[in-house]
Amino acid sequence: MKRYVALAEKLAAAIRTGGLAAGDRLPSVRQLRATHGVSASTVFRAYYLLEARGLVRARDRSGYFVASDSSARPPAAELPSRPRAQSIPVEVGERVFTILAATMRRDVVPLGSAFPSPTLFPLASLARTMASTVPRLDPRSSVEYLLQGSAPLRRQIARRYLANDMHLTADDLVVTSGAMEALNLCLAAVTRPGDIVAIESPTFYATLQALNRRGLKALEVPTHPREGIELGALADVLERQRPAACWLMTNFQNPLGSLMPEAKKRDLVAMLERFDTPLIEDDVYAELYFGARRPRPAKAFDKSGLVLHCGSFSKCLAPGYRIGWAAPGRFVQQVARLKLSSTLTASVPAEATLAAYLDKAGYDRHLRALRHTLAQQQQAMLAALVRHFPPGTRATRPAGGYFLWIELPKRIDALALHEQALARGISVAPGPIFSSRGDFANCLRLNYGHPWSARIEDAMATLGSLVAAAA
Ligand SMILES: Cc1ncc(COP(=O)(O)O)c(C=O)c1O
Repeated sequence: MKRYVALAEKLAAAIRTGGLAAGDRLPSVRQLRATHGVSASTVFRAYYLLEARGLVRARDRSGYFVASDSSARPPAAELPSRPRAQSIPVEVGERVFTILAATMRRDVVPLGSAFPSPTLFPLASLARTMASTVPRLDPRSSVEYLLQGSAPLRRQIARRYLANDMHLTADDLVVTSGAMEALNLCLAAVTRPGDIVAIESPTFYATLQALNRRGLKALEVPTHPREGIELGALADVLERQRPAACWLMTNFQNPLGSLMPEAKKRDLVAMLERFDTPLIEDDVYAELYFGARRPRPAKAFDKSGLVLHCGSFSKCLAPGYRIGWAAPGRFVQQVARLKLSSTLTASVPAEATLAAYLDKAGYDRHLRALRHTLAQQQQAMLAALVRHFPPGTRATRPAGGYFLWIELPKRIDALALHEQALARGISVAPGPIFSSRGDFANCLRLNYGHPWSARIEDAMATLGSLVAAAA
């Protein structure tokens, strides 16, 4: 990295973290030369770069000051979705795969990606744990892990539920190859082809793909960008259409980032109990909260074993290890047997490594740092939206996770925007891939899970100008 860019990044970080607040004067050329051992021209080039990014403004003869909108936020997205009230078989077109392929390219700025930056995870420490754990692995474990998975890992996961005031034991859990397998097994345990499944609107495209594979019908239910699915609308659906199951993300929903309040989760479970409708709860982002404590899932209020809770280490600790789990309540045996008859076990070395890692201190420290970084990056992206996007742009402000849901002016076609952005080396996730009917034509999901950099700032500026040109 060039010296002036490195200096600009340092000052930008101080602005984002509040070390330098709106209206503050930046350190003088003389101070920066002395503290950073750089030339005056390096300092000036750093100032110019920050000015071009809209983070600072020059005032005649008085120096550079932090711009007043450096911590600004766009107006909040706050209207619930209004999907059509009929269930339909789910079609999965080519489009979503083409869009996903773009997010995997290294040369593309990954604003459309579903993954956070791998640099945010303790990969070296995990690798050391693996190097010391795997040679000591009992050869019989590959057989013992069949059915429910590694007992030491399940005990560690149960311990974390306990910290959340939920009393589950290792016997209640099935370790899987990521949450995706857990979710698919749970879906298979509670539905038959042709059944209706109630889902949020918008929803994660992999949910739609899972319904499609099993020949299920999706019933999209109105969902609020801050508080999740609307219970009144869901009650109607349960009463009239009798879905075989619900599949919901109660904590930091993908793509909205909505967080269902605790009282609403309690009411949700009580309502589902009245109709005896199982809930598949996709809860892969809960550890990425920015508030005081981990939000409890709906599973915390489940007295009759009707909630099949699915979690994962992919988003918070070990991407690529492919370790997740299900706590499927009264369906635990079906889920374990479905796993045995499909993939047998998750990866035994990965399970053993995570069990050993969780046994040591360090995970919570890593999580605290990760949450702090993500919260700052969210702030940076919200401020960049204000700087670069036209009026009429709205965004969610999730209290966790790493996605913003953006509502652009009505006229914008997010699919066309995706094409134009990709031609400039930027990926976005366009709204229509999050709906079985291709709704949300003017919406985008943006990923702020990558350390803020000049590359991302520039990508936001390019996107903003594309939107402004089309608005
Ligand atoms: C909402 C949601 N559920 C499940 C998954 C899949 O998790 P895993 O990687 O553990 O299979 C993802 C990954 O993007 C996700 O966003």
